[in-house]
Amino acid sequence: MLYHIVTYGCQMNVHESEKIAGILKKEGGELCPDIEKADLVVFNTCCIRDTAEKRALGNIGALKKRKRENKDFMIAVLGCMTQQEGFAEMMREKFPFVDIILGTNNLHLLPYYIKLKDKKNSVDIDRANGGTYDVNLTSDTFRTSFPNAWVNIMYGCDNFCSYCIVPYVRGREVSRPPKDVLNEIKFLLDEGYKEITLLGQNVNSYRYEDYDFKRLLAEAGNSGKKFRLRFMTSNPKDFDKDVIDVIKSSDNICKHIHLPAQSGSDGILRLMNRKYTAARYLDLVLAVRENIEDALISSDIMVGFPTETEEDFSQTLDLVKKSRFSQAFTFVYSPRSGTVSAKMEDVGAEVKKRRITELIRVQNKITKEISEGFKGLTREVLIESAEGDNFFGRTDNGRVVTFEKSNGFKIGDFVNVKITASKSSSLTGTPL
Ligand code: 5AD
Ligand code: SF4
Repeated sequence: MLYHIVTYGCQMNVHESEKIAGILKKEGGELCPDIEKADLVVFNTCCIRDTAEKRALGNIGALKKRKRENKDFMIAVLGCMTQQEGFAEMMREKFPFVDIILGTNNLHLLPYYIKLKDKKNSVDIDRANGGTYDVNLTSDTFRTSFPNAWVNIMYGCDNFCSYCIVPYVRGREVSRPPKDVLNEIKFLLDEGYKEITLLGQNVNSYRYEDYDFKRLLAEAGNSGKKFRLRFMTSNPKDFDKDVIDVIKSSDNICKHIHLPAQSGSDGILRLMNRKYTAARYLDLVLAVRENIEDALISSDIMVGFPTETEEDFSQTLDLVKKSRFSQAFTFVYSPRSGTVSAKMEDVGAEVKKRRITELIRVQNKITKEISEGFKGLTREVLIESAEGDNFFGRTDNGRVVTFEKSNGFKIGDFVNVKITASKSSSLTGTPL
């Protein structure tokens, strides 16, 4: 059986697709890059914003004709979109040709439903808390991101930011036992992976009995060999000086912190239920800068939250200018059904469009200036991919570097590169 997986959303989902691929591979399936040739198409969906949701539904709809013409062709819809209240009913009505719909806790049931003769829009969603199906046998995950390997340290989220659907669809926070996480990291390093990225919606609130994130980060960082340890996402309300000390204490922990600010207005942050102020956020930025040499901070920023005024927005621009993010993922607020802010009055598409354009303009200038600051420096780069005559890699603090293939280097090698030129967010250099 040839299968193709379409993934929407964040790194969490990219890794979940690797687990789905592992389950299908174990059953004798073969990953097929061409969707047209696949016997089974799996949609691993995301519902965090309406854009991803609309794209997934559009792509599922596009397969209706093929399903009608070929009864043996299978379509499975997985991922957090399926966990939404009313989703299964909507699918039954509008997409009855879909064979299998599984919730995020039930990935492991995919082989059962594939073999089931009379599928007829089979739905199996388990909304009970308890995290995502965990391939504890890490060797079963079909990884596709060498030299990086993703490692979940926790699932779900307890924060209930007022705009966010994640706590509703992914359930309450569940931390994996540290023993399992550390064993998985050891296994991956023994396999030759050079970069480990710890994943969680709010890694700072990782806790297993009395074992917390700082301890996990410190122990993971000291796993012996030379490798890069990254983690995401940090929540400013829980990120503290102790984590900064741990980052400083290990050469393996990358000097890059993804710290979503969302807004620079205290009023909007309060309405968002973020539990920190702009001043506290800027203090954290300062603490990182003062304590970790060369550290870069990236962020998520949202515009157009309900009631956001011009003054609120200008405070966001102010925070962006003061924080000098190396990169910012910028989002237009989209109401998600069932969340607290969905009941609040929207600021309208025109205002959102104008604000996101301005935000991107301000951030692009900062991104470019930070890149220019790299010119003439020599930095260690981990080669992550190759295309044509070029290698692509990243510095420890997360900047993308391109250089010409040469000297027998290969993907997964650490190379010292002298940066010779910069272009907005990426750098070009010469290996030494
Ligand atoms: N609308 C727009 N952006 C959102 N995000 C989360 N929920 C929404 C929403 N309803 C953004 C936040 C978060 C990132 C992963 O997605 O900025 O940090
Ligand atoms: Fe959503 Fe907030 Fe949890 Fe992040 S911390 S997943 S934004 S509720």
